[in-house]
Amino acid sequence: MSTIPNAALYAQRRARLAARLGPDAVAIVPTAPEHLRNRDSEFLFRFDSYFHYLSGFGEPSAWLVITSAGHTTLFCNPKDLEREIWDGIRLGPEAAPAALGVDAAFPVTELEQRLPRLLENKATVWYPFATHAGLEGRIDGWLKAVRARVRYGALCPEAQRDLCSILDEMRLIKDAHEQTVMRRAAQISAGAHVRAMQLSARMLRQGADVREYHLDAELLHEFRRHGSQYPAYGSIVAAGANACVLHYRADNAPIRDGELVLIDAGCELDGYASDITRTFPANGKFTAPQRALYELVLAAQDAAIEATRAGARFTEPHEATVRVLSQGLLDLGLLDHHKVGTVDDVIASRAYFRYYMHRTGHWLGMDVHDCGSYVEPSELGRISKRKDPLSGEVIQDRPSRILQAGMCLTIEPGLYVRPAEDVPREFWNIGIRIEDDAFVTADGCELITRDVPVNADEIEALMRP
Ligand code: GLY
Ligand code: MN
Ligand code: MN
Repeated sequence: MSTIPNAALYAQRRARLAARLGPDAVAIVPTAPEHLRNRDSEFLFRFDSYFHYLSGFGEPSAWLVITSAGHTTLFCNPKDLEREIWDGIRLGPEAAPAALGVDAAFPVTELEQRLPRLLENKATVWYPFATHAGLEGRIDGWLKAVRARVRYGALCPEAQRDLCSILDEMRLIKDAHEQTVMRRAAQISAGAHVRAMQLSARMLRQGADVREYHLDAELLHEFRRHGSQYPAYGSIVAAGANACVLHYRADNAPIRDGELVLIDAGCELDGYASDITRTFPANGKFTAPQRALYELVLAAQDAAIEATRAGARFTEPHEATVRVLSQGLLDLGLLDHHKVGTVDDVIASRAYFRYYMHRTGHWLGMDVHDCGSYVEPSELGRISKRKDPLSGEVIQDRPSRILQAGMCLTIEPGLYVRPAEDVPREFWNIGIRIEDDAFVTADGCELITRDVPVNADEIEALMRP
């Protein structure tokens, strides 16, 4: 059995983790459970991101146990010719040490018997809190078995700690391998958006009955033909007013000439997500009001991109976006300055929230909304209080995370205009979001999703016959 690609990289990650566990500690990391979809059909298996980050191993029913000395034990499905005929080849514990670089491997059927021995004489047990249903109960059971041996001189761990706190920080900074995979995932997704835009205009020119699912299928085809395993999240393909539903999913609504289409879709490649949104005219030509709002969201995104660099706070791109959007909403008459005042008043009162109700970004990585604290760890104690102007709730703020090179985040401003008497009719039912993925660099950021254009003229050019 040959080694898995990058086995040495996973071993290095385990060693880095081990060095942070403290003395006499052990970490337990299960992969994800399998889930039934209906009756006896299962959802496609997706490994747990923490587990895969430390092993590169994609089979279900697997566990890692890592000690502070860096010794790694894998539990995995045993070889079983009959099951392998039905479900596929298993690595098996005999081949695992050579293939994965782990120190020992056992059949997962021996987990219950062996885990107490691995916990014995350790001071601390680390595992991911609140991520795996029933894990706490199983750990309790193993600790009970250790305690039963205390009278023979065994020591039982006296501390349980959340492994997420270490792994989240490790995953927040993407290493060179992760950056390479994420750039490729972004490139594939960008190509899929280009194809969906072009298909929409082409089908409308042909007089076809275009549906959201046609564009969804185009995205999926492009993802899969480049080796992506699945979409990183349920693709949003929203025609017309559906774009104002933030978590809309590609459905069967017609895509009409003259409407905008909002697509928020990205592939997952080898465990890493991409996350792109583009909004484009279904027929390839923006109307004047559509373009006015589009240019405003794009200007807001430009401001956010400008604010994204090492040393800035995570909230700075959002604040830059909000200022541009607020001014634009006043300029376009979507907010009445007689009622809401100046741009500073709009920001202070959050009057923009009616049209822009989400944040400008999130961490991106193995999970589309990736792990990692949004609070600066070195400033946890600096708490301030403020009253939210909309809800009246008193909110405790801690200083926002300081961006570092190698972090990856999305930059995704939007505007969503629902019909209302006090809103100019020409903007009704327009929903626009523009989303790109960025690596933070020392002096700015690297946008990795720009193989699909974002400029309105370039989108129109792309959609012409
Ligand atoms: N596609 C999920 C998001 O943009 O956050
Ligand atoms: Mn996103
Ligand atoms: Mn998205």
